Amino acid sequence: MEPEPTTVPDEERRTVARETFPELVARLSRLSVTKHYDAYADIPWDDPAYRIDHDDPLWQAGDDHPLGATDWYKSQPLAIRSRIGLHLVVCSMQIGVEFENILTRGLLGFAMNLPVGAPEFRYVYHEAIEESHHSLMFREFVNRARLEPPARGALKRAAGRRVIRQAQRFPELFFLFVLGGEDPIDHVQRRLLRREVPPLLRRMMQIHITEEARHLCFAREYLRTRVPHLGWWRRQMMAIGAPLILGAMAREMLEPPAVVAHTYAIPRHVINEAFRDGAIHRAGVRDSLAKVRALCGELDIMTGVARPLWRRLEVA
Ligand SMILES: [Fe+2]
Ligand SMILES: [Fe+2]
Repeated sequence: MEPEPTTVPDEERRTVARETFPELVARLSRLSVTKHYDAYADIPWDDPAYRIDHDDPLWQAGDDHPLGATDWYKSQPLAIRSRIGLHLVVCSMQIGVEFENILTRGLLGFAMNLPVGAPEFRYVYHEAIEESHHSLMFREFVNRARLEPPARGALKRAAGRRVIRQAQRFPELFFLFVLGGEDPIDHVQRRLLRREVPPLLRRMMQIHITEEARHLCFAREYLRTRVPHLGWWRRQMMAIGAPLILGAMAREMLEPPAVVAHTYAIPRHVINEAFRDGAIHRAGVRDSLAKVRALCGELDIMTGVARPLWRRLEVA
């Protein structure tokens, strides 16, 4: 098994200071051929060591998890703690499937607007293929775990359709949405890999982190290349949209779906203690957005009008 990716691999960074955006995109495309994974060929789903055991204590949420840190969670029997921990993972994977579905549909729409010869076309198709494999592996996990995934409401469906449209009308805003989802997931997965987790989860995280490094790199560099050339009105939309999109995305990725609270009868005050008022959760949201927040500063879209929104939504 290959070494665990703990930071963005060197090859995802610009090799020379003067590497242009088209050169970077071409290099990411080549890496998509030499370093990529298949949801079934590269995960030994039927190996007994990779079986999902509801009672495996390694599923437990740790002290660094907002719910895992509560007295209520710690007072539950070990089997319930393990089951809740696994259920939280199932929910993250299902949300991942939904997010990547929106992302892939947006990427394919974006690709169709590119002129012949644009290097982004090939790269974006590589990314769509990788996201499809991620969705397959996440859904396979959800299927095998046999725990109820979160519901997908009408609001989420409508929001998804809007995001997909923006990929063609306002791609800079779309790639900000991409970072709003991918950065918090990447942050949580890197943190998870620092502790002992079941082998199946470890393998999935390794694959995901490795391929996401390219996706994050492309989205960041796309924004760095394009945002400085946007007109005044679009820059204002980016400035106001950034805290709204990032706050909503980070919460979607990091807050517990209602199905978990309902299934284990978690008291309302415990959910509030952990997620509404909890210091661990608030710090988690802020930390998970640190890189994209720094990028927004670099892009000069944290304007005087937008700053109060960043603070109010607790993403700054
Ligand atoms: Fe992914
Ligand atoms: Fe991705």
